[in-house]
Formats: sequence, C-alpha cells, structure tokens
Amino acid sequence: MLKLNRGARFIELPEAFMQSLQQDEKGFCKLAAILKKNTGINLELNDKNLFLMAGRLNKVLREYRLSSYLEFIHLINSGDPQYASALANALTTHTTDFFREDEHFIILKKLVTDLTNHKNFNGEIRIWCAAASTGQEAYTIAMCIEEIRTSLRPFELKILATDIDHQVLDVASQGVYTHVEMAPVPAMLKQKYFKKCFQQKNEVFQVNARIRNAIHFAPFNLVSDDYLFQHAFDIVFCRNVLIYFDSETRTQIISKFAGILQPEGLLFLGHAEAGVVKASALKPIHVAIFKRAA
Ligand SMILES: C[S@@+](CC[C@H](N)C(=O)[O-])C[C@H]1O[C@@H](n2cnc3c(N)ncnc32)[C@H](O)[C@@H]1O
Repeated sequence: MLKLNRGARFIELPEAFMQSLQQDEKGFCKLAAILKKNTGINLELNDKNLFLMAGRLNKVLREYRLSSYLEFIHLINSGDPQYASALANALTTHTTDFFREDEHFIILKKLVTDLTNHKNFNGEIRIWCAAASTGQEAYTIAMCIEEIRTSLRPFELKILATDIDHQVLDVASQGVYTHVEMAPVPAMLKQKYFKKCFQQKNEVFQVNARIRNAIHFAPFNLVSDDYLFQHAFDIVFCRNVLIYFDSETRTQIISKFAGILQPEGLLFLGHAEAGVVKASALKPIHVAIFKRAA
C-alpha cells in the first residue's frame, strides 16, 4: 500500500487539491471505467461529473492519504476489494425513504389482493426488493401487506432485499431509524410495527421482529451477479437505480427481471424510470408498474 505522508498539504491546500482533481480528466475516465465495470453506474465525462467525482473522492483520498486519482487507481488495481468498494460507496446515491413514491404502495395492496384471489395462488407471496439501500422500501412493502393480511386468504410473505453495498445492508438488517427518517411513517403504523429504543442516548425506532423476519437481506450486484433463484418472484421492486446505468445495461437487467418473474408477475420501477422498459413480455399497467405476460 502506498503510504504518503501528505495529509498536512491537503489541509493547507484543499482548494488547490480539489482543482487538480477537477482537471484530471484522464484519472476521471479510468475511475469512471472501473465504476462502470463494477456497478454499471455510468458517469460521462463532463464538468458536472468531474466536479461531483472530485467532491466525493476528496474525502476518500484524504482518508487513505493519497494525492491523486492515479494513486487511488493503483490501490484499486492491487486487488484489495476495500478500495473498489470505497470508490463505489463514494459515488453511489443511497437516498431512500419510507413510502417513497407512495402511490405505488396503494396500488401494491390492490395487486396483492388480486394475487391472493388468483385461482393458481399457492399460499406464498415472494417479493424481491432490488437496490434496497438502507431498508425503508422493503419495510414499507412488508408493512403495507401486513395491513391487509386479515382480509386475504392465508399466505406466507417472503421478501428478499438486496443491494450491492454491504454497509447499507448492515443498516437495513438492523432496521433502526431516527425520528427524521421515521417522518413519512403514519403514526398508526409507527405504533404497530416499531418499538422505541435508544442508540447512543438518542431515541430511535426499530422495526419489530415479525416484520424483520419476513425479509432476508443479502448482497446482489444487478450488473454482474447471476439471476439464479430457486423460485420465481410474484413481484420485483427495482426503483431509482436504473437511471444511473446506460441504456444497454438497463435493457439487459429488465430482460433478466422478465425472466425471473412468475407469469403475470409485477415489476415496479422508479417513476423516472418508466420509459426504460422496451421488453415485449412486460406490459405497463400503472405509472412505472409492469405486468409479465401470462
Ligand atoms: C437511490 S438508492 C434507491 C433505493 C430504493 N430502491 C428507493 O427507491 O428508495 C440506489 C441503490 O442502488 C444501489 N446500487 C447501485 N448500483 C447497484 C448495482 N449494480 N447492483 C445493486 N445495487 C446497486 C446503491 O447501493 C443504492 O443503495
């Protein structure tokens, strides 16, 4: 590992350091290529992205005491996965929320009701929440379905929630959220599905064990992992990540989703991503919701 004792220089000249990063187009292109290969995230060379990468990597480079993108690239190429992870973590957006794009959850309840009323319903609802970030989306799905449980035929709920990033998955599996993060959760659901506890003297809320037990969190890279699952899914959520990929990668992922959905299975994308589906096997039924042919 390169050990460069240049931390003091960064502290004295952060602006000059930032400027040198913003002008390093060659380093940017190499790092963007590594990022795209590892995650599918597509960063084109332009002033906005040069600025974004410099801003987000400044902290990482200082942490590893590096003075240029080139030194960081050497470390990534050394094969130690922590450096490629640090690159992906710094440049990936993990923004999420409970009840994000909330009309999807109203429609979800109706579609789950239809699913359990279907003549072929086998007593299991299998959902994949891909690119789940810190877990709010998967827990929202689980709470919405629990809310209608008593009006439906008996079922077992199985949710697989995945993300490329191990750090967000750790947060997700603990299911602990701050007051601010809990803001979109209606008071009645907060009372029913969360318990108050304390983390470093701060009051926080943990999802109850019943809801957590319905969800299995695991790493999965949408771009490079094999879509090999024991059972097909009734529903796939993959929202607000495809926008970061190029159109070829999106098309490949959509066709893999079509392949792992049950006949008449449902795909939920982010509202901004509705236009990316070209697969003829998937028909739009609501905004950014698609149904696989029977
Ligand atoms: C903006 S968040 C979306 C979270 C959630 N789906 C939502 O809509 O609120 C995007 C997530 O995609 C994950 N991600 C990025 N590239 C990925 C990949 N190649 N495979 C799986 N997850 C990826 C990121 O780690 C991040 O947590």
